[in-house]
Amino acid sequence: MRDFTFNTTPSIAMASGGAASLAAYCRERGARSVFIVTDPGIIKAGLLNEAQAGLVDEGLAVDWFSGVEADPPDTTVRAAAERARDCGADLVVGFGGGSSMDVAKVVALLASDGCDQSLEELYGVGMASGRRLPLIQVPTTAGTGSEVTPIAIITTGETTKSGIVSPLLLPDLALLDPDLTLGLPPQVTAATGIDAMVHAIEAYTSAHRRNPVSDALAREALAQLSSNIVEAVHNGENRDARAGMLLGAMQAGQAFANAPVAAVHALAYPLGGHFHIPHGLSNSLVLPQVLRFNQPVAGALYEELAPLVRNGGDGDLVSRMTALIEAVELPRTLREMSISEDFLPTLAADAMKQQRLLVNNPRDVTEADALAIYGEAF
Ligand SMILES: NC(=O)c1ccc[n+]([C@@H]2O[C@H](COP(=O)([O-])OP(=O)(O)OC[C@H]3O[C@@H](n4cnc5c(N)ncnc54)[C@H](O)[C@@H]3O)[C@@H](O)[C@H]2O)c1
Ligand SMILES: [Fe+2]
Repeated sequence: MRDFTFNTTPSIAMASGGAASLAAYCRERGARSVFIVTDPGIIKAGLLNEAQAGLVDEGLAVDWFSGVEADPPDTTVRAAAERARDCGADLVVGFGGGSSMDVAKVVALLASDGCDQSLEELYGVGMASGRRLPLIQVPTTAGTGSEVTPIAIITTGETTKSGIVSPLLLPDLALLDPDLTLGLPPQVTAATGIDAMVHAIEAYTSAHRRNPVSDALAREALAQLSSNIVEAVHNGENRDARAGMLLGAMQAGQAFANAPVAAVHALAYPLGGHFHIPHGLSNSLVLPQVLRFNQPVAGALYEELAPLVRNGGDGDLVSRMTALIEAVELPRTLREMSISEDFLPTLAADAMKQQRLLVNNPRDVTEADALAIYGEAF
């Protein structure tokens, strides 16, 4: 067996209604002043009410930043970190989708007393040093797996995103409460769920660092997610389906945190950057085309995965994933997203900038390949 290392969030709790016990988890970690990072949609949906009441009942000081927007920009991170420092936070909670959880990670670093780095110094792999504040993540989408990854994705320019990757970003606790996801709208459920499935597939075929543990998690994630995604989209109140989605998304996160994602994500990012297409939908739009491109090299691994994908017929991996994308009613073409064909070369040029991800792809991707893939997705 080849040597490998595997890292994940040390504590994971799955509990229906568990958000109400957030205070106890904070107390366990010695907190007195809790800082919550979230977005306006979460506040509006009332998802924080019980957790917040519990924190106040426990006599904990609570402050929050609720201005996180999708694909969070660096200005948001700075504003949130400043507020956390001003209120003397000693524990950070990320409460929301990947956007809120990613901001929370960086806030936990920047607002720590031991931090003498600026945000700019953190971008890249292994650049963060020092300590961070204790960090609890409460996902409200079943998608990014950010609760178990050492990664934060921040928008740094008009159309570009940068990653901060550091073991310091791995949270202390992932608190999975399926009840929080019961009201997640169908389109968000579908897009974030496909994102999680892509994490599992790309981890399983990653050119680097895949290992027996990440493989097992990727396989289990794919089975969980495919068993539950159609039900979760069409019958969102089904608690079991929601729990299956949260579990699967987390397992996929554990897999790709150790065996990183590749060309699907690399080609998806420019779509998010230029057209503000949600992360999961961007992935979904290029998934079948990238799988077909990888098939000559990754075909044997795709054959291992195909039977694990349920509710998509009994064809190969591409046809099953395509059937699932159809069943959850996501748009299928770039044309439907009002992207003009003239723009495809710009997308291809931008995808080439994602070398951090492209190096993990089982097959080399040239700019001409990327253009051809976008052409097929058009
Ligand atoms: N850290 C990682 O490892 C990692 C991996 C993949 C993607 N990402 C990043 O994560 C972000 C995407 O995260 P996401 O897909 O979870 O979406 P998101 O956090 O951007 O949230 C999308 C929308 O869903 C709403 N929402 C979330 N939960 C809800 C609920 N339970 N009920 C009602 N509405 C709800 C939010 O208010 C928001 O409007 C991107 O910035 C992406 O780059 C990070
Ligand atoms: Fe993703």
